[in-house]
Amino acid sequence: MILLKFTAVVLLAVCSEAVTRPGVAPLIELNDGKTIPSLGLGTWLGFTKSGDRVPVNDDSVQKAVELAIDAGYRHIDTAAVYSTEEQVGAAIKKKIEEGAVARGDLFVTSKLWNNNHAKSAVVPALKESLARLGLEYLDLYLIHWPIAQTEHSAYADIDYVETWQGMMDAQAAGLAKSIGVSNFNVTQLDRLISMSKVKPAALQIEVNLNLQQTELLNFCKAQNIAVIGYTPFGSLFHGKAAADAPPPRSDDQALLKIADRHHKTVAQINLRYLIELGVIPIPKSVTKKRIEANIEVFDFQLNQQERDVLKSFDKNYRTIAVTQWKDSPYYPFNK
Ligand SMILES: NC(=O)c1ccc[n+]([C@@H]2O[C@H](COP(=O)([O-])OP(=O)(O)OC[C@H]3O[C@@H](n4cnc5c(N)ncnc54)[C@H](OP(=O)(O)O)[C@@H]3O)[C@@H](O)[C@H]2O)c1
Ligand SMILES: *[C@@H]1O[C@H](CO)[C@@H](O)[C@H](O)[C@H]1NC(C)=O
Repeated sequence: MILLKFTAVVLLAVCSEAVTRPGVAPLIELNDGKTIPSLGLGTWLGFTKSGDRVPVNDDSVQKAVELAIDAGYRHIDTAAVYSTEEQVGAAIKKKIEEGAVARGDLFVTSKLWNNNHAKSAVVPALKESLARLGLEYLDLYLIHWPIAQTEHSAYADIDYVETWQGMMDAQAAGLAKSIGVSNFNVTQLDRLISMSKVKPAALQIEVNLNLQQTELLNFCKAQNIAVIGYTPFGSLFHGKAAADAPPPRSDDQALLKIADRHHKTVAQINLRYLIELGVIPIPKSVTKKRIEANIEVFDFQLNQQERDVLKSFDKNYRTIAVTQWKDSPYYPFNK
């Protein structure tokens, strides 16, 4: 028995560093020397069927963050525009008071909204996020979109290179340990890097089975920029999938077969695949069972044949296309 156990440990150590205890997301090193947990909890409540933001009018996000921390999550993703920063902060405060976790063990991300892209507006906006979160610093602050807008949603003529100067100020002031961007394409990222003294530590983009982002992943790998994958489930669940969304859904026979082989769910297979692509997924759930299951993806590995099946669903299909912004000179996606 002892020998068997020993052999299993050695085998694990030899076969892959990525396979660890369930419920614990291994840390990944960023290009600025900090570390980020390789899976996090999303806290955006999403859009209603008519395209508006789901109103935040209960404490479901606070409950979700508390459950997540209890389940082993150490990485939480929020944004000024989600209206969930207060709840994320309340949950963190409660868990620290309970002694369940220390601030230094948590990785908290928030994002700068489009109406604060002026260089001088960045630090004040970050301070407002920190006040809502009840935190002294963020682990990661992201420019949410490359598109600048006014308070009234008109386009503002502000280059994201200028906005990045404000992000560098925030980092220098110790208000954000790491800084990065979200929803930038390769051209924009390349331009930002060539024109700035500090390289983004992370890029947050949509990555899921229908949108596997090979070009951006390769670019970020070469540049040593961590890729955080949002909307990691894409159109996997019937309730969320648009009528025109390509397969698969969670009852897909090929996916169910892979899931059965590993004694996992299709959702877990989906997340594991993204992790093996080198992506840091941030699945959102406010449901206890799902929150717990979504981090149980570090105790198994897919094989090449299984990865080939998952690769076949890559259709360059985007769930968050923000086509209302397609006339902006900074619109990042194909028009
Ligand atoms: N940077 C950006 O522009 C950007 C854009 C979009 C999202 N994000 C971030 O990324 C996070 C994740 O993306 P997302 O919220 O769009 O989508 P998602 O995480 O792909 O999907 C969330 C949906 O999946 C359901 N779900 C979660 N786990 C499940 C499971 N194991 N089985 C069945 N259903 C499950 C959730 O339901 P329940 O909650 O009801 O359990 C919810 O309806 C966001 O919350 C946000 O933090 C960033
Ligand atoms: C990135 O976005 C810019 C600004 O909209 C656009 O000009 C460029 O063609 C885009 N590049 C790619 C690779 O999509």
